[in-house]
Amino acid sequence: MLKPEQNRALMEVGPGTLMGELLRRYWLPFGAVGELDKQATRPVRLLGEDLVVYKDLSGNLGLVDRHCPHRRADLSYGWVEECGLRCNYHGWKFDHTGACVHQPFEEVAHPDARFKERITIKSYPVQAHAGLLWAYLGPPPAPLVPNWDPFTWGNGFVQIVMTEIPCNWFQCQENSIDPVHFEWLHDSWGMRLRGQLDGPTPPAHLRIRFNEFDYGFQYQRVREGQSEEDELWTVGRVCLWPNCLFTGNHFEWRVPVDDTTTLSVGWFFDRVPEEMEPFRQERIPWWYGPLTDTKTGRWLDSHVMNQDFVAWVGQGTQADRTQEHLGESDRGVILMRRRMLEEAEVVRQGGEPKAVIRDPAANKRVELPIIDRDFFLAGYSITDVVEGRARGPRYARNFVFQAGQPEEITREYRAAMGMDRVEQLELAARSTNGTSQ
Ligand code: FES
Ligand SMILES: [Fe+2]
Repeated sequence: MLKPEQNRALMEVGPGTLMGELLRRYWLPFGAVGELDKQATRPVRLLGEDLVVYKDLSGNLGLVDRHCPHRRADLSYGWVEECGLRCNYHGWKFDHTGACVHQPFEEVAHPDARFKERITIKSYPVQAHAGLLWAYLGPPPAPLVPNWDPFTWGNGFVQIVMTEIPCNWFQCQENSIDPVHFEWLHDSWGMRLRGQLDGPTPPAHLRIRFNEFDYGFQYQRVREGQSEEDELWTVGRVCLWPNCLFTGNHFEWRVPVDDTTTLSVGWFFDRVPEEMEPFRQERIPWWYGPLTDTKTGRWLDSHVMNQDFVAWVGQGTQADRTQEHLGESDRGVILMRRRMLEEAEVVRQGGEPKAVIRDPAANKRVELPIIDRDFFLAGYSITDVVEGRARGPRYARNFVFQAGQPEEITREYRAAMGMDRVEQLELAARSTNGTSQ
C-alpha cells in the first residue's frame, strides 16, 4: 500500500514534477505521420503541456506552444507556409526552432526595429519515425529516437491505432507488467462475453517471474499445459521502459496527455506471406479507435485492448493506491513502481536515467526479447497458411486488438496478406476433401 504522496508522485506528469521530469528524458510517440497529410496542423497535449504540431510546405515538422506569444491566439488554427506556421490573428509567423520570423504590421510601422528578434515561442524537437510522430520535451541534447528491432523488419503490414483514455497513464503502464490479467480479463471474461459458458476453463498461471534488462522488464509465465522450455518462460513479454508494452510484433505506448488522460498508441506489424513480397507501404495507415458503445454508453469490451481499457478506467481517473491489497501476482507492479521512483530520483539529482539511447551504432537496430523472432525475419508462404503452419496471431484473419477498424484499412490489410488467395485455396481444399469422403 502506498502513502498518498507516493501515489501522487507516480501520477504527476507536469513540468517540474518527479515523474514528469523522468518522462521528459524520452521520446514519446503522440500521433501518426499521416495525420499531417490531411491537415497540416493539429493540437497536441502532452505531459500537461498544450502544443501544436505542424508540417510546413517544405516538409519541416514543428512542435510549438499552442498559444501565440503576441496575444495568445490558438496556433492550431494557424496555417503553414514554405517555412513555418503563421498565426491567424495578426499574422505573426514562427519557424520550427521557435524563432519569430515575421511580424507583418510591426515591420511596416517600425522597419528598423528588431522587435521580432526578442520574440520566441516554446518549441520542442519532433521527428517522424516508423510512421509515428515523436516528441522530446526534455532538456537538450535530445537523445536518439529508439530504432526498435521491428521498425527495421520490412515486408510487414503496419498500422497505427490511437485512443484517448480518460485516466492517468501510470495505471495503464502497470498493466504492461501484469501477466495474470491475461487469464482473467482476456481469457475468462472474453469467453463469457462470447457466451462460451460451458467450455474448458482457460489454463491457470502456475509460475511467474520478472527480470529487468536495459530497456525494461521481461515478464515470464508458465500456465497449465506449458513448461519451462516454452518461450513464454524463457523469453516472455516485455514491459518496455518507460511507458510501453511490447509483445514481439506490436507496441502499445501509454502516453501521458496530462494527469488524468492517456493516449494509447498502438503500432502493429503483420508479416506478409512471401508471395506478396517485396511489400512496402507508401503510407502507414492510422486510425482512432472508439472507446464506448454508442447504443449503451458503456465501454466497448469486444477486443483485447478495449478489455484492458475497461480495467484501467475502472480503477478510477487516478487509481487510489492507498486502498490496494497487493499480492504475489503484483510483484512486477511493485518492482516497476520502485524502479520508476529510483530512476526519477536519478534525474532529480542531475543524472541520466536508464534506457536513454545516444549511440548511433547501438541505435541501428535495438534488439528486444522476442518470442519466435525468426518467424518475422524468415517469413512464410501462403501454402504454410493453408496447410496450418502459420496460424493464429502469425496470420491474423481479423484485427483482434481494438474495435472499430475502418473498412478501408481492413481491405488494405486483406490485400497485403493475400487473404483472398488463401481463402480460395482453403475453399478448394475443403471441397476436394468433401468430394473424396
Ligand atoms: S495573437 Fe498571434 S499574431 Fe496576434
Ligand atoms: Fe491486457
